[in-house]
Amino acid sequence: MKITVITGTEVKGCTWHLKEAFLSELRKGNDIQEFYLPRDNPQFCRGCKICFFVHESKCPHADKVMPIWDSMVNSDLIVWAYPVYVVLRTPGHVKTLLDHFGCHWMVHRPEPKMFTKTAIVLTQSIGAPNGSAQDDVATSMSWLGVPRVKRLGFGMIDGVIWEELKPKRREKFIRKTEAFARSLKNLKPAKGLSLKGKFFFEICKAMQKYLLKKTDKPSADAQYWIDQGWISL
Ligand SMILES: Cc1cc2nc3c(=O)[nH]c(=O)nc-3n(C[C@H](O)[C@H](O)[C@H](O)COP(=O)(O)O)c2cc1C
Repeated sequence: MKITVITGTEVKGCTWHLKEAFLSELRKGNDIQEFYLPRDNPQFCRGCKICFFVHESKCPHADKVMPIWDSMVNSDLIVWAYPVYVVLRTPGHVKTLLDHFGCHWMVHRPEPKMFTKTAIVLTQSIGAPNGSAQDDVATSMSWLGVPRVKRLGFGMIDGVIWEELKPKRREKFIRKTEAFARSLKNLKPAKGLSLKGKFFFEICKAMQKYLLKKTDKPSADAQYWIDQGWISL
């Protein structure tokens, strides 16, 4: 199985230890490609919209974004590991990467290879609920067409320095994370879009058909839908 791992911090702290515990169960026999943020995609989306109007390869940050996107497209499992930051959401650099994937959202140019994938959202905070921060990535994954998104989140409680947490708590986090990873060892590809995904896909298709009728020249998005055989002129 191919696995892309995107870690939303460069610090070798709580997130990193949980991510390593997760991967320790999956390293054998799997092809793992790892990225760290902000290192591997340090630039904010500039809002030029060239990805929407022309192609994502024309993005001024394509040299950083495309390798991550290509790795995701070629993976069976996409793992996101990150800490919860203010305002109880994903760190800004994770959001920055998600912004760069906007052109692949269902409403624009969804990649059919995403329709069989599983995504993992692994988070921790000092004590705040993890749900909203997980939603940032989970919502993005769903709109990219990923039908299965599984989550695991922790509250560190004792502090924010891994080595200073009580050993028993650290062990508990590690055990739970390893068990979570073991449940994915015999992962089979999903059979396609989820029911909700299919519903959104049909709405997007109707929208693309409608927009196509109103123009002489298909937009980059409409042309993509035509090329995929999802709509016709
Ligand atoms: C800038 C920043 C903001 C944070 N905001 C919160 C927060 O609002 N609530 C919370 O429970 N933890 C917060 N934390 C703690 C992190 O979620 C995490 O527990 C901590 O950074 C340890 O993880 P790490 O070693 O992977 O960095 C924040 C940490 C940082 C660096």
